[in-house]
Amino acid sequence: MVININGATLNGIHGYPVSVEIHISRGLPSFNIVGIGGVAVKESKDRVRAAILNSGFEFPLGRITVNLAPADIKKEGTLLDLPIAIGILCASKQIYTDNLDKYLFIGELSLLGKLRDVKGALPIVIEGIQNNIKKYIVPKDNKDECSLVKEAKIYPCDSLNDAINTINDDNIKPYKIGKIKNDNSQYRIDFSEVVGQHSVKRGVEVAAAGNHNLVLYGPPGTGKSMIAYRIPTILPDITYEESLECTKIYSVYGDLEEGLIYKRPFRTPHHTATKIALIGGGAKLMPGEISLAHNGVLFLDEMLEFKKDVLEALRQPLENRSVTISKFSGSTKYPSNFMLVGAFNTCPCSKIQCTCSEYEKNRYLKKLSGPLLDRIDLFLPVDYVEHNHIISTEKTKKSRDIKKSIDKARKIQYERLKKYNITTNSEMDMPLVKRYCTLENGAEKIIKKIYNKYSLSTRAYTKILKVSRTIADLDERDRIYESDLIEALQYRKFIEEII
Ligand SMILES: Nc1ncnc2c1ncn2[C@@H]1O[C@H](COP(=O)(O)OP(=O)(O)O)[C@@H](O)[C@H]1O
Ligand SMILES: [Mg+2]
Repeated sequence: MVININGATLNGIHGYPVSVEIHISRGLPSFNIVGIGGVAVKESKDRVRAAILNSGFEFPLGRITVNLAPADIKKEGTLLDLPIAIGILCASKQIYTDNLDKYLFIGELSLLGKLRDVKGALPIVIEGIQNNIKKYIVPKDNKDECSLVKEAKIYPCDSLNDAINTINDDNIKPYKIGKIKNDNSQYRIDFSEVVGQHSVKRGVEVAAAGNHNLVLYGPPGTGKSMIAYRIPTILPDITYEESLECTKIYSVYGDLEEGLIYKRPFRTPHHTATKIALIGGGAKLMPGEISLAHNGVLFLDEMLEFKKDVLEALRQPLENRSVTISKFSGSTKYPSNFMLVGAFNTCPCSKIQCTCSEYEKNRYLKKLSGPLLDRIDLFLPVDYVEHNHIISTEKTKKSRDIKKSIDKARKIQYERLKKYNITTNSEMDMPLVKRYCTLENGAEKIIKKIYNKYSLSTRAYTKILKVSRTIADLDERDRIYESDLIEALQYRKFIEEII
């Protein structure tokens, strides 16, 4: 008799169902797994044997053949331990169940028969649902991410025995996660702590409202990092779909400490980060910081200290909002739709009384190559706070209040753009910019002048219009006024200064 049981494997952030077929025949004892498996799958044999013995069962004598179908996709990881073990117990008639085909099994087994968590459980459940499998036996530590899929019935188990009991007990209720708390009250920092810097805060508000890329530049100690760290406190709450996308990426990356991602990611890679750490790749084609920042913020503090080739590598994912990583072992596509926030000092000495020559300063700033500069929408100069601001007792806007206007502006964008499968102004392409960025007469004249004077690239031109669109949205206006355009142009002064 051949036992057939549902398992799964992963490629990038996609799960693939794997049919685990087990056959035991008479003959000299042997245990073979066929149907390309990676190293971890081959090692599975020893773990499965020990786990079966240590769970109080016998390891059957005879020729055991495990076939992982389809044979043409490579199976990675330790996900298949549990279905293989259960299949062997069924095939050797040590356990009986009529329910086998209703479940999909995932989990790594310890030698003692305990079930260990695995990477990528969520994408597997998502794929399983598309293949009409409703019930999932998963390791306990994977339960929260899996329960994000509303249609799935999740049964968390902590051992092989627990899994066996669960499939035979109709009274066990599937796991449901409690309400996900995703409001911004969880942040312990607030924009109101930043004194002065009104124009910077306004620029940050515009950037956050339209999901525009932003850099903060100026002398050290002026609050650039402080401001950047407060950006998540004003971003709209993460939606269910976005949370699902992010959790998938973290699930594959194997970093889901809190079970799932319920707030926008804020990633802060150090300036010594390698290209692989930032973009993704490596032997296992893992997602990099740009994908871990998907639907959130990628903050590059001391941006000019990053290696030039690492910064350059950001260009393509910034444009495509996804990245495809290829290696001889295959290729994988990860989403990377993030808001880029950079901060840097304008000279390499980092002293308050700068001692750099003009030449040194220019050389330093040139690290931001033209094409990368073109992908940044707002450049905000951050200068020393004037003394009267420091001692002033005026109330500054709280994150909560800034977030309210951003939420409103985002809603307008969403309603306008949802039919194009995008949600924010920064994602508009040229035809959409043409359609939705209608300028008032005066504004039209100004942009024409600027376009000719600075011979703007098309990318720079559309960026100015997109930022103007966001400024008008913050004001809940359909048309773009002259003042909106002038404000958007202000945010590009840096480029004029260094070119
Ligand atoms: N505008 C400000 N309001 C309140 N505190 C500030 C401000 N600017 C700087 N600080 C204080 O100075 C410290 C250093 O600022 P930081 O953000 O690290 O500067 P930068 O990144 O520009 O070098 C902050 O932790 C904060 O305590
Ligand atoms: Mg800093």
